[in-house]
Amino acid sequence: MKTDPQTRIEELRKLIKEHDYNYFVLAQPTISDYQYDQLFTELVQLEKQFPNLITPDSPTQRVGSDITNEFKPVQHKIPMLSLSNSYSEEELIAFDRRVRESLPENESVEYVCELKIDGVSVSLRYVNGILETGATRGDGTTGEEITNNIKTIRTIPLSIKPKQKFNVSDLEVRGEIYMELDQFNKLNEERELNGEKTFANPRNSTAGTIKLLDPKQVARRPLKSFTYYLFSELEELTSHLSNLELLKELGFCVNENYRLCKSIDQVINFCKEWEDKRDKLPYEIDGVVVKVNSLRHQKILGSIAKSPRWAIAFKFKAKQARTKLHKITWQVGRTGTLTPVAELEPVFLAGSTISRATLHNFDEINRKDIREGDWVIIEKGGDVIPKVVSVDIENRTPGLKAVIPPTKCPVCHSKLSQPENEVAIYCENYSCLAQVKGRITHFASRGAMDIVGLGDSLINLFVDLGYLKSYADIYDLKDNKDELIKIERLGEKSISNLLNAIEESKKRPFEKVLFALGIRYVGAGAAKKLAEHFLSIDNLIKAKIEEIEEVSEIGPSISNSIKRFFSDYHNTQIIDRLKKVGLTFALEKRNKISEKLKDKTFVLTGTLSSMSREDAKEKIISNGGVVVSSVSKNTDFVVVGETPGSKFDKAQKLGIKIISEEEFLDMIGNK
Ligand code: IVH
Repeated sequence: MKTDPQTRIEELRKLIKEHDYNYFVLAQPTISDYQYDQLFTELVQLEKQFPNLITPDSPTQRVGSDITNEFKPVQHKIPMLSLSNSYSEEELIAFDRRVRESLPENESVEYVCELKIDGVSVSLRYVNGILETGATRGDGTTGEEITNNIKTIRTIPLSIKPKQKFNVSDLEVRGEIYMELDQFNKLNEERELNGEKTFANPRNSTAGTIKLLDPKQVARRPLKSFTYYLFSELEELTSHLSNLELLKELGFCVNENYRLCKSIDQVINFCKEWEDKRDKLPYEIDGVVVKVNSLRHQKILGSIAKSPRWAIAFKFKAKQARTKLHKITWQVGRTGTLTPVAELEPVFLAGSTISRATLHNFDEINRKDIREGDWVIIEKGGDVIPKVVSVDIENRTPGLKAVIPPTKCPVCHSKLSQPENEVAIYCENYSCLAQVKGRITHFASRGAMDIVGLGDSLINLFVDLGYLKSYADIYDLKDNKDELIKIERLGEKSISNLLNAIEESKKRPFEKVLFALGIRYVGAGAAKKLAEHFLSIDNLIKAKIEEIEEVSEIGPSISNSIKRFFSDYHNTQIIDRLKKVGLTFALEKRNKISEKLKDKTFVLTGTLSSMSREDAKEKIISNGGVVVSSVSKNTDFVVVGETPGSKFDKAQKLGIKIISEEEFLDMIGNK
């Protein structure tokens, strides 16, 4: 007798889930890949025939849905706290003392030590046993919904096995998403081959992946998970240790290297042990998390501010290595700054081979007395480029000479300058090839014009072949299409893709264009503020230094740099060309919600309590009003928050209408 489709579908799902668990969580597959694929294909076929039988927890739903993500905000039912950090034995002993002082005297305290996985934390909500939402931590209170991406991670069960004792309708599980080192290196190699930017470390690549808009792409990246926290209303839960065991029974992947410690000495031993052993793991950890085991104790201890009093992170020292510094070279950046780079004897450190490290500037070389030929200690901390922390002076070969700063640019050989009060040395030649390449790379980069496919190596090639002399030339590349497709390794298809990406980049908003121009000190944040304040490049070019400094967080170094930039005719010429090809040099009209404030001019002063200044501006503009930075007789309203500045006095003098935040919200009908 032939089984009915529903029964077979359920049977297949059960089998596949078991094999997924064996393969991904236990790493002990019991069938061959081929046999597994057969089961999977059969399920896919059946679901195609009977689409009404598809359920959200079917293994076929992992491959990545077709729907592109919209990361909606999710309110965490219980806040996702962070941990306070400790760096020494003494701090751990102090933590233990604080814990014991807050608990009844006659009760002994136990701790569970776990590895602190260097990944990205997520919260998973299961409703009636089915994974309903996956969310990022966000600010701890509100995260972003990334369910479709989470579903692609095979170590996260789509539904949990029902347990007799444990049958809850609402369950929250938290854990860390991470990428193994091998997989991370492989991903970076692939990216390098494709001309894409590589990730600095596995945590960054995890964070970048988990927020991709297309779940299908997420499914292709090798993400894994460890869970370490379970929350439910059930009374039966009494200890963290038994929660970890329960998580395992429910099908989650729990990191095996946890240990119950009966004293702080045992905790300290655990920390020391793993600080030594961390390199042997296939993934990165940055410390140990120490948690009070009893959930009753945890409740008594509670939390302060953003972290629980029942847990602490013990952070490992940044990993160091000793190696020989062969030579110091000077790299020229896009703004002409020369940065000294240590060329090192390759050494393996924290998952990758290091052969270069930054030395920041000449002062730093002097201060640390770093010389070519020295043995140096290098360090890789967090996501930064490796740096030289110190010199092993005792083992210095006699006769090594102190470093002399260069007098000519290593790339274009023109003269260098060092402005007073600055540590940096600059190449002053605007046409220096290193600067040209740097400016174009910055222009095309992801946070700026985001021209997909126009990476470092292609830019170098186009500059060397004479196709690009400035970033404005990017938009003329299409006129040379016939020649470009003949370049070895490029070809018709990739040039067409590139030219399309270039066309596409013309749509970038004003703030991105402003950032892309590469004005020294004008980062993405400053560009956004300037764009919102001045609304067009022409207003910004005309603005006086004092007016530029009225923008919040814009100080004299930025304002002077902006003035300098626009007074250089190379730059104004390039901007004119970019205007002609159709780049956006003004803020586009926002979607107007209403015309309630039509043509009314507002000035904001003081701190507003229910919204940021940017939000208030947004509200005024979207209701048809105009925001200006200083009070004049043409101002209609001055909105006054707490501790207002001189604008308040001026408004009083001129008799301008002064309104409170509440009155302002009333005006736009928004309370
Ligand atoms: S417990 C209140 N356990 O470290 C409990 N966190 O700085 C908070 N992390 O945001 C989390 N491994 O992303 C916990 N075994 C572990 C962890 C861990 C990594 C991360 C997590 C958290 C951060 C705290």
